[in-house]
Amino acid sequence: MGGITYKRGREPHGKEHRVIFRNIDREGWDPGIETYLKDGGYDQLKKALGMERAAITEEVKKSGLRGRGGAGFPCGVKWTFIPPNNTKPVYLICNADESEPGTFKDRYILHQDPHQLIEGMTIACFAVGAKLAYIYIREEFPEAAKIVEKAIAEAHAKGFLGKNIQGSGFDLEIYVHRGAGAYICGEETGLIESLEGKRPYPRIKPPYFPAAMGLYLCPTIVNNVETLCHVKHIIGMGGEEYAKTGTKNNTGTRILCVSGDVQKPGYFEVEVGKVTMGEVINDLCGGLKPGRELKAVIPGGSSAKVLRADEIYTVGRGDDARKLTIWDIPMDFDTMAACGSMAGSGGVIVMDDSRSMSWVLNNLNNFYAHESCGQCTPCREGSLWMKKITDRVVAGKASPSDIDTLYGVAKNIDGRTICAFGEACSWPTESFVEKFRDELIGDTKPELEGALVNAETLTAAASL
Ligand SMILES: Cc1cc2nc3c(=O)[nH]c(=O)nc-3n(C[C@H](O)[C@H](O)[C@H](O)COP(=O)(O)O)c2cc1C
Ligand code: SF4
Repeated sequence: MGGITYKRGREPHGKEHRVIFRNIDREGWDPGIETYLKDGGYDQLKKALGMERAAITEEVKKSGLRGRGGAGFPCGVKWTFIPPNNTKPVYLICNADESEPGTFKDRYILHQDPHQLIEGMTIACFAVGAKLAYIYIREEFPEAAKIVEKAIAEAHAKGFLGKNIQGSGFDLEIYVHRGAGAYICGEETGLIESLEGKRPYPRIKPPYFPAAMGLYLCPTIVNNVETLCHVKHIIGMGGEEYAKTGTKNNTGTRILCVSGDVQKPGYFEVEVGKVTMGEVINDLCGGLKPGRELKAVIPGGSSAKVLRADEIYTVGRGDDARKLTIWDIPMDFDTMAACGSMAGSGGVIVMDDSRSMSWVLNNLNNFYAHESCGQCTPCREGSLWMKKITDRVVAGKASPSDIDTLYGVAKNIDGRTICAFGEACSWPTESFVEKFRDELIGDTKPELEGALVNAETLTAAASL
């Protein structure tokens, strides 16, 4: 990066393209406003305040920015869903719950560059007409909450928040709200319920799409931390210029969080679709551990379907169809979807041949059984059954037909619930059974066919 030095051992890899993480691990950098201002901070806000509100949304639409929180929904398009004849207050919520396993990016922004987020949020609030905004920070990030609160006070003192920001006539207050400590608090409608002081029970969509009926049933824009930071840079460089980074329909940069069986796990900001899975594993992360072979990758946070290392993936149709190995898959939203998974929140979990797929699936199922909010029967009961069945598989107490039952349970959750947690918890099981069926069956015992069910039934009957 021109003119910027990074702390020793924390230098970005040559294949990175740092925009959002430009200041992370930067030598001489601190989260204070003076440092931010010396670096040209809040210049983009000043520029935005001189623009028409609709023009800001137009730039964000032109940029092609897709949400970095998981679903990859176009950000500018989401902003236009606020009803045009709306007379209620509009709210903006920054989703800083960062609860998807395998994802660890937003926390660095909150800790090291909070003003970048505040600037992005303020521009977004100006564009959508929100005078009140919240940063919903994961309960487990107490230090981040303190740092962001201090940054908000600093921005206030310098006239970047509060009444009549920089003489523009625009008023905005941003409040930090500490999360309630559950994965489901990251789901936008669960988050809104939690912010309203209730249990984070997700709302059904439709009708409760936040942009139409969100916080206090008023139009509410919910965006991820990383997404909102991009807004600042889009205003700085213009939507069209921004869209030149990344690839078509998958523009800009994104932060990948790589964990698991690689030499150097960590965070890496790359142009979307410009690096392949092979480059991520071999170059950015220094390769697999010595003597190990790649077995599988979960490419977009724990809810994403698993990709098998020895599979050939066909993407595109007709004359455009291409065959890819896992190593060739570009890290973008559309290709990942074409490969049967999703780029999700950017959490890439790498597994080598030392991993037991039964153990991995059981680990995931333990998490989802614990985190289901319990509102809908298929998710509440099914997530627990999936955990119990895989508990039996890893304990060597399952029969082969248990794997079919496991698959059936997952299929009966998927698409039958109030919120997308239903898919988040069933996709791991569905994909692991589809891709690693032989290995899972190999961990069961044919001689237990029928026997264990009977034993469990008897135990249950005895306790009645
Ligand atoms: C179970 C579940 C958990 C989620 N957790 C998060 C989270 O921790 N952070 C986040 O930004 N989005 C999370 N999301 C996605 C949000 O519902 C929402 O789509 C996102 O915050 C929108 O921001 P974006 O458009 O900028 O991506 C989660 C979704 C589900 C279904
Ligand atoms: S799908 Fe699961 S987490 Fe979502 S509302 Fe239903 S029970 Fe709750």
